Amino acid sequence: MKAPALIALALPVMLAACASGPSAEEQAAMTADARKASGALIQKLGGELKAAINEKGPEGAISVCKERAPQIAADMSKQFNFDVKRVSPKNRNPAGVPDAWEAEAQAGLEKRLAAGEKPETLDTWQIVSTPGGKQFRYAKALPVQPVCLTCHGGPADIPEGVKARLATEYPLDKATGYAPGMVRGIVSIKRSL
Ligand code: HEC
Repeated sequence: MKAPALIALALPVMLAACASGPSAEEQAAMTADARKASGALIQKLGGELKAAINEKGPEGAISVCKERAPQIAADMSKQFNFDVKRVSPKNRNPAGVPDAWEAEAQAGLEKRLAAGEKPETLDTWQIVSTPGGKQFRYAKALPVQPVCLTCHGGPADIPEGVKARLATEYPLDKATGYAPGMVRGIVSIKRSL
């Protein structure tokens, strides 16, 4: 077969491959990376949070959540070529509002939790089509642990000093009233394909 004929045959196949998005292997690799990135974020933030609470008390640890969380998310975004952030339907940071995909993903994860799945391993992902092209989307549940209650629990769990700081820094705070085992929010990961 002559070269032009080969190209004529190969081109539609290549175009079809583009239109159908990433291969199964590519999707598996992205999901594995998203698990690594979200796992690293959770581990690093959790470690720094506990250390800060021990060293500076819960009030002093507020800055870890405020400053370190976005920094660690930015580090993971750079390292894995993702857009990594934390969102919650009951957000504290005004920028932490979930979009439609994120809200639906968290609701789905909460259903699976209620059906008996382990909170630590709850995640989901999808390739979605947007007007700007295809995107890889990933969500990992952030389950509430006892340590979270100091700043996200009910009125009896949160020390007065923390309440005062939260009221000043986050006047529109919705992120209280949680109990262990609930889903506080998600690590949301996105990549344009
Ligand atoms: C020392 C107080 C403190 C503790 C303990 C704490 N948080 Fe937070 N959390 C905050 C603050 C402050 C913010 C807002 C950070 C910001 O400005 O981006 C926040 C924000 C969040 C967000 C981002 C979405 C939003 O509401 O803005 C999630 C998700 C979250 N926390 C989950 C947790 C989980 C899960 C734990 C336990 C493992 C935890 N937090 C423990 C203070 C705390």
